[in-house]
Amino acid sequence: MTARRLVLLGAPGAGKGTQAERLVGKLGVPKISTGDALRQAVASGSELGLRVRGTMERGELVGDDIVIEVVRERLSRPDARGGFVLDGFPRTVKQAEALDRILAELGTALQRCVALGVEEDAVVERLLMRARIEGRSDDNAETIRHRIRVYRRDTAPLIDYYRVRSLLREVDGMGPVETVEQAIEEALAA
Ligand code: AP5
Repeated sequence: MTARRLVLLGAPGAGKGTQAERLVGKLGVPKISTGDALRQAVASGSELGLRVRGTMERGELVGDDIVIEVVRERLSRPDARGGFVLDGFPRTVKQAEALDRILAELGTALQRCVALGVEEDAVVERLLMRARIEGRSDDNAETIRHRIRVYRRDTAPLIDYYRVRSLLREVDGMGPVETVEQAIEEALAA
């Protein structure tokens, strides 16, 4: 049986968003991206957006309590009952523990964490290329390097968090998009 309650983990530019889009099409479950949700809040000029804008532009993590509430609200909606693909959450051990609690309150549990492994220089190139196309405010060389440092410090420990719970599947994120997609499908079925 293919897992349907998933976390995609990986450094900035690892391909979480790209692969999440492909997965939700196949699984028929919603993609829940905290980065997208926060960018929408910034673009709308909401109170939340005003609070997080500077933090995101510096490539720092937004406060745990803020993103935990965003995810709690989203996971409680009916369309997430049949599963979900989380992209960019959790990013700290505190967020991972909160996710476990939220799912337990909803009477369910995470089935897989797929960690996309990538080389740092390659993801910097990917994100600089995206900067030329999309102009995301945190896609400049200095902020990208900082986001990668934040990933190593705060988020990489989640690999062990999920390994000890036997939920982790590690996938090479360096191949073409379709090859990575295939590897993820196999990881979800295994
Ligand atoms: P977020 O939006 O989550 O950004 P990120 O983790 O830095 O991830 P990216 O979107 O840059 O990369 P991705 O892994 O999704 O790769 P993608 O598929 O886009 O977070 C942004 C900010 O929001 C954070 O810095 C923080 O401030 C805040 N935030 C968000 N969540 C938070 C949380 N939980 N807690 C606290 N703060 C939070 O691909 C990147 C590029 O590479 C694309 O152009 C794509 O086309 C290309 N690409 C993808 N796959 C491949 C491939 N296999 N080969 C070649 N190119 C590829």
